[in-house]
Amino acid sequence: MTGDAQRRKIVSASILSADFKCLGKQILEVQNSGAKWLHIDVMDGCFVPNISLGIPVIASIRDVCDIFFDVHLMILDPLRYVEYFYKAGAQMITVHSEAVSDPQKAIDSIQALGIKAGMSLNPTTGLDMVQDFMHQLDMVLFMGVEPGFGGQKFNPEVLKKIKKARHMIDSQGLKTLIQVDGGVNADTAAEIAKAGADVFVAGSYIFQNPEGMRKAIDILRQKIGDT
Ligand code: DX5
Ligand code: ZN
Repeated sequence: MTGDAQRRKIVSASILSADFKCLGKQILEVQNSGAKWLHIDVMDGCFVPNISLGIPVIASIRDVCDIFFDVHLMILDPLRYVEYFYKAGAQMITVHSEAVSDPQKAIDSIQALGIKAGMSLNPTTGLDMVQDFMHQLDMVLFMGVEPGFGGQKFNPEVLKKIKKARHMIDSQGLKTLIQVDGGVNADTAAEIAKAGADVFVAGSYIFQNPEGMRKAIDILRQKIGDT
């Protein structure tokens, strides 16, 4: 593995597990507790069996913080909406490889807005779905659980795909980030880091941690080697 020690590790806090009645306050707290990115899960009730939040919510939280907005679209035909998510404040938009018919067009449409483009793979989706686009992608997101809900258990089978992607990215000298989302916590983060991830999304572990957000993020940062 090349450049491992130099690579920047990032904790991205997923607001899916936040307390929505005081969302603005929770985001400020997570920002001040050491999370570098905010992961925003958008679900349409079609691509996944759940509905979360949308464009107006993102626009309103954009006003209260300056943390990097990492928007994860779990929606069908996401290209219809990327411009609106950009206008609402998204700085990275990740779409699902299973939800787009033309991955090249998806990457181009997002990057044309001047923001970063990610492509996500469900746990059972093969790496071949993104390998031809790796050099153009800013990030590949590996789901550690079936998308749709927080608080699920990480599927360790996904580690193999992460290792393969790490090798592919390093051997081609690319800067594509590897993000892992779903089931990231104090028990799984170190192994996921060892497999080669750069960005660690955690929802329930951060927002529902009895010890508080700061402690949760400190532990995650320690486990992933973000010093
Ligand atoms: C699930 C979402 C995740 C979710 C992760 O479909 O994409 O971002 O919030 O939740 P945890 O960290 O609780 O597994
Ligand atoms: Zn997510």
